[in-house]
Amino acid sequence: MNQRLRSIEWVGDKVKMIDQTKLPLKLEFIETDDYLVIADAIKKLKIRGAPAIGIAAGFGIYLGVKNFQGDDKEKFKNLFENVCEVFAQTRPTAVNLFWAIDRMKKTFYSNIKLGTDELKKKLLEEALAIQNDDIQMCKTIGLNGSKLIPDEANILTHCNTGWLATGDYGTALGIIYTAFEQGKKVRVYVDETRPLLQGARLTTWELMQRGIETILITDNMSAYLMKLGKIDCVIVGADRIALNGDTANKIGTYNLAIISKFHNIPFYVAAPTSSIDFNIKTGDEIPIEERGSEEIVEIMGKRIAPEGVKTFSPAFDVTPNELITAIITEVGVIYPPFEENLQKIKESIKSRD
Ligand code: MRU
Repeated sequence: MNQRLRSIEWVGDKVKMIDQTKLPLKLEFIETDDYLVIADAIKKLKIRGAPAIGIAAGFGIYLGVKNFQGDDKEKFKNLFENVCEVFAQTRPTAVNLFWAIDRMKKTFYSNIKLGTDELKKKLLEEALAIQNDDIQMCKTIGLNGSKLIPDEANILTHCNTGWLATGDYGTALGIIYTAFEQGKKVRVYVDETRPLLQGARLTTWELMQRGIETILITDNMSAYLMKLGKIDCVIVGADRIALNGDTANKIGTYNLAIISKFHNIPFYVAAPTSSIDFNIKTGDEIPIEERGSEEIVEIMGKRIAPEGVKTFSPAFDVTPNELITAIITEVGVIYPPFEENLQKIKESIKSRD
């Protein structure tokens, strides 16, 4: 299998994305220059994972204004704002999406004096920079996090945080790849991750392509595995981290954090600083996406529950900071007290901007 595949790429004047809803049974691509197709792909999880969503939005915003003709700045600005809003409405939880939209807006307004063609060029450059920055951040997260992995390690992970979910490499999975490349003997237990099975469909697929020992389990098996002494650490990704370290990630992450604490197993969150929402103090402020009932009453399109059953389908939960051993970022490994240490990161990033 070609390891140089990427979840999303800029090819000529189009976006090329893997349709992740078809994996692992079919490797199909979506090629488009229509921003509405990209927004729809984000909503339907054809492209997914917090960093990849941000990258898709960057390219989508450029494509949404690319065909604007003329020099009427007011009209151009209105179109740009409308396209940004379309992307802001796709999925609410992953802050990387809003981080990317903000970067596109900063680029737009700081170059507003340019002619529309030059301004469009700047937007494309920024979208490409968002992807490149994510790739660099993931590489460094891999190196920073691999130091925490023992020479022989049984690792449990949830959802999909690999190259499919990012510009490349991945976050939690990026750490596992790096440790493996360093010669460490890693065995990975993968939660299937109901309802949409990102673990069973995507994470196993990624890991097995790399020749990493992969063991698929259902979401309700992890406490028993911990009790049996089969897990040395848990590594998960993040969709949004509050200033106090509370972390939103795929539904089921909170359960894992609680049982890790009970069994005295390190629980690591791996994420780029683009996943930190420096504007919110605690996880209570994180908007949690709710998905349609069909994702619960069906598995891969096949009905499994009685007609008319009521459902509740939050896509994410929030793990309280006291259950997190460390947050692994590209600027280093952050330990508690998170409030204090994330504040320092906020200040260093502000002074860099
Ligand atoms: O609903 P999804 O598949 O987009 O959720 C993805 C996750 O929860 C990931 O753990 C998170 O986005 C981090 S991806 C590096």
